Order: sequence, then C-alpha cells, then structure tokens
Amino acid sequence: MHSILDNRPELKAQIDAVAEVAGYLWMKGWAERNGGNITVNVTEWVDDALRAMPALEEARPIGTVLPKLKGCWFYCKGTGRRMRDLARDPMANGSLIRILDDCASYEIVADRPVLPTSELPSHLNVHDYLIGKGLPYKASLHTHPIELVALTHGRKWLQKDAATRMLWSMIPETKAFCPRGLGMVPYMLPSSVELADATLKTLDEGYDVVMWEKHGVFAVDTDIMNAFDQVDVLNKAAQIYIAAKNMGFEPEGMSAEQMQEMTAAFGLPK
Ligand code: 13P
Ligand code: ZN
Repeated sequence: MHSILDNRPELKAQIDAVAEVAGYLWMKGWAERNGGNITVNVTEWVDDALRAMPALEEARPIGTVLPKLKGCWFYCKGTGRRMRDLARDPMANGSLIRILDDCASYEIVADRPVLPTSELPSHLNVHDYLIGKGLPYKASLHTHPIELVALTHGRKWLQKDAATRMLWSMIPETKAFCPRGLGMVPYMLPSSVELADATLKTLDEGYDVVMWEKHGVFAVDTDIMNAFDQVDVLNKAAQIYIAAKNMGFEPEGMSAEQMQEMTAAFGLPK
C-alpha cells in the first residue's frame, strides 16, 4: 500500500523510532491495552508536497488556542490504539496532524484517518510550551510504568522531590541520566484540560519527567528514544527499591556525600 512516508526517509526514521519505542513499552508491561501515548513534532521533516496534501477529514478543535503551534506537524498515536500494534504498523495506529492557522484546530493528513490520542490537550500544550521556551525537545511520551505508578499510591512519595531523592540514591546512573528528577502531579481526570495545565506547570518548575498520581508518567526530550530512556532509568531505580524491600529491609541508598561526589564528577545540576 502507498504511504505518505514513501520517499521521505527522514520523516520515516522519526516514525520508525516511535514504533521501536512502542515495542519496548509493550515488552516492559507498561502498555496494557491502549495504555499510553506518544507525540513527536515532525515539522522540520515535512516537505512542500506533503504540506500541499489535502486533509482526510474536516478540521477538529484542539480545545484550546496554542499560538506557537501554527503550521506545526505532529505524529500522534491514535486514540484507543495499542502500542503493540503501533510497533508493527505505525501509520495504521497513528497519524500525522497539522495545526491550522487559527492555532485552535487540526487536520489529519496521513495514510488513514486515525484520530489522535485522547491526551492530545496535554501533549500539544506541552509542545507549545517547549517551542515558546526555545527548547530543542521534540518528543513527548505518556506511559504506565508499573513500579513508578505503584510508588504514587504511597502518600510519602507524593511530597515534592521525595521520590526523586529516593530514586536518585538507588543507583548513580539515575541522577546522571535523569538529572532534573521526577515532578508530581496530583490525581486528575485522564485527558482533562486540568491535567494538561498541571503537567505544564510542573514541567515549568524544571522537570523533564512528570508523574501523574495513580496513572502514569509524562516525559519530554529531544527525541522519543531519549524520552523513553529517562522513564526507563527512573523505573529501574524504583525496581531496585522494591527488590530491597522484598528482601525484607529498607534500602540504605547512596549517602549525601556519595550523591555530592557524583553530582560534581558528572557536572550535574544540584
Ligand atoms: P489513548 O488511547 O487515547 O491514547 O489513551 C491512553 C491513555 O493512556 C490515556 O491516559
Ligand atoms: Zn494513561
């Protein structure tokens, strides 16, 4: 079947990376049924011929006005679609959308009219913010990592930076590869504008990865593989904590001196 990715190797490479990550999410057990979603700002890989293509359907409202997204293009996982299916066939389980000049609506320009994820308000709000800040971040990932979600069922880990401090102290790589820590957003209705606003506020406090209490994580990075890596190292740290607890003791964690030494040696933010 003809695809809009044919003869567009750079755009295809971006979407292949999304498919690769979708496969990892499934294999890790973080993507039950249609759980999780991914969007990538692919504007720089869209050529004039693609820009001139007609939409597959009428324009739909985003639900908010996002001025920085005028003319931007995104690959989005389809709502209700499974990561494990997207891994095999990203254009049957996701689509490209373009943001119209009103900055308040989008059209699907893709192989099939796959409706974008229900978390589109959170994703697009965040992309608008990232562009406004001049950050080179192109990808956002929402997923349901088991151990990180389990942590948010414990009140003490919901306190600001309590989980970050514990996770960083489990293994040195955690702070090295997730140096901005883990922000916390209290429970809110999935796909709501309130959740999108709270996510944005928490990213603005300086985090790249935000926990949605009793739901999942939302991570941003330069590309989708890097966004996945940040969640992967944080969840690994949570698994080490749980493994120690399962052995019947409270894990010691790296000492404050060890953390300071590592922070200085790697040139990490304090
Ligand atoms: P979608 O299938 O609409 O992307 O929703 C999945 C999800 O995880 C909602 O939070
Ligand atoms: Zn979710």
